[in-house]
Amino acid sequence: MNSEEIMKKDKDFFIQGYTRVPIVLTEGKGAILKDINGKEYIDCFAGIAVSNVGHAHERLVQAATNQMKKLIHTSGRFYNIPQTLLVEKLAEITPADLKHTYLCNSGTEAVENAVKLVKKYATSRGKTGAALIALEGSFHGRLGFSLSLTGQAKYKKGFSSYANLQGVVHAPTPYPYRSKLSEEECGEDAALAIENVIDYHTAGDVAAFIIEPILGEGGIIVPPDTYFKTLVGILKERDIPFISDEVQSGFGRSGKWFAGDHWNLKPDLMTLAKGLGGGMPIGAAIATSKIVECVKSGDFFSTYGGNPVCSAVALENIKIIEDEGLVENSAKIGKVFMEGLENLQRKNSVIGDVRGRGLMIGFELVKNPETKKPAVDETKKMVNLLKNEGVIIGLGGLFGNVLRLQPPLCITEEQANEVLVKIEKTLTSL
Ligand SMILES: Cc1ncc(COP(=O)(O)O)c(C=O)c1O
Repeated sequence: MNSEEIMKKDKDFFIQGYTRVPIVLTEGKGAILKDINGKEYIDCFAGIAVSNVGHAHERLVQAATNQMKKLIHTSGRFYNIPQTLLVEKLAEITPADLKHTYLCNSGTEAVENAVKLVKKYATSRGKTGAALIALEGSFHGRLGFSLSLTGQAKYKKGFSSYANLQGVVHAPTPYPYRSKLSEEECGEDAALAIENVIDYHTAGDVAAFIIEPILGEGGIIVPPDTYFKTLVGILKERDIPFISDEVQSGFGRSGKWFAGDHWNLKPDLMTLAKGLGGGMPIGAAIATSKIVECVKSGDFFSTYGGNPVCSAVALENIKIIEDEGLVENSAKIGKVFMEGLENLQRKNSVIGDVRGRGLMIGFELVKNPETKKPAVDETKKMVNLLKNEGVIIGLGGLFGNVLRLQPPLCITEEQANEVLVKIEKTLTSL
């Protein structure tokens, strides 16, 4: 079958709930992807920040194969060895007192389970836990509470109350580039606004506050340092559990193991997926002993969660990140990209802002650097031009004008420089 036939069949039989990039991918190695016609691409999106150790890593293939030969599935009713070793490892690498993990199958499920946990924690303390606070511009998933927490209308349109479940309220996002305040004030202001949200939009019974420490789908928005400083104090004072959604930013993506490590965050719960499984469908909600004390047998269950094959691959994936120094490489190559993009920004006024940490980088295109009007069509065009040049890049942002560089963490300096040359070339042809 050729790519046209595949695309035609997909149109006929797959629910067209999203638009795909018109490439049929067939194989990959490291940071390189190949399509059905044999064309090669430098992958700068890693399957949306998932394939952190690179494509078809031999150790992942071995881990999956070895486990599949022994036992593919047990269900959550039985113990299995890879699952136990994985949750032990997660307690080791995650910050502070995070210790107990519930395993599921995606980022959305991780968020849903974290919500369930904080609701139970609230009721076990005689509270209602009626409210949940998330950020405007955030992304936490597309089902039930995860969709309701997501702070962007474009994902909610047409889904009525399903997309706005009761009790969810939103607080302003600290978005320095689009703020009229100084970076410092922007952070402080957005954090203080949470107090208003609690006092005016809830009955004071907040089950949790959830945040992506670096907003991913919202356009790689990095909150100023002042934001977290003030935020942590407010949450502590109000006794509100803090969920850090590291589904996209975790596992070395930001140049540290977790993005919250840039601010030394110590959340009560963390949600994980994407980079956890190296491409296998696995998600996790990890919490402190204090939070999970309320859990009773029967509160949670998943047929596939903690599946031995996914767990074995995830465990090996973490070991590869450690053995190959990929967190360090993320920080190192991230600098190459940042410096290269900042250079391009000086020569091209269409680049309004360059931001990010490690290999979680966004650059925002604007029609005019003064008005900062989003250059939406130009951004789409860039994705297409780069595709033709053999570079796969992500698209996101609240206005759809942010190009996202989130390659496998094993990307080399040579590949990064090649990508920068191609970005410069496509900017010229814009
Ligand atoms: C921060 C964050 N949370 C949750 C999700 C949902 O994850 P999934 O698509 O695996 O359900 C995403 C997906 O992009 C995400 O970026």
